[in-house]
Amino acid sequence: MTEPYRGIDHLGIAVRDLDAAVKTYRDVLGFAVTGRERIDARGIEVAFVETGAGRIELIAPTRPDSEVSGFLEKRGEGMHHLCVRVDHVDQKLAELKAQGAKLIDSEPKPGAHGTRVAFVHPKGTNGVLLELAEHGHH
Ligand code: CO
Repeated sequence: MTEPYRGIDHLGIAVRDLDAAVKTYRDVLGFAVTGRERIDARGIEVAFVETGAGRIELIAPTRPDSEVSGFLEKRGEGMHHLCVRVDHVDQKLAELKAQGAKLIDSEPKPGAHGTRVAFVHPKGTNGVLLELAEHGHH
């Protein structure tokens, strides 16, 4: 059985300074910004921008070897990844692996707000880093 995709969860934007980015998105652009959270296991801090339908995730490094540091150094600030929601990320990873997808993470890791996430390499997605996210079941 195929594990279905459940729509775009968010678009990720890499930023150097989360406070400054939150100010811009909230005070200049007028979005509601919610759900700020540090994810120390990955060296990042994130905040979510609510657009009315769909969210933007602002991601900033909290240490030099963070998950987004290389990207920021090479490419600068900007669009970093696309996240699609799934119900069972372990099953989706197993499927993708069997189908020859180019995975970055073979095991899920912690995401914001209790999600479990894994990334697929841009070399295997025509150039876009793809995140898969399983939200907690309440
Ligand atoms: Co994300």
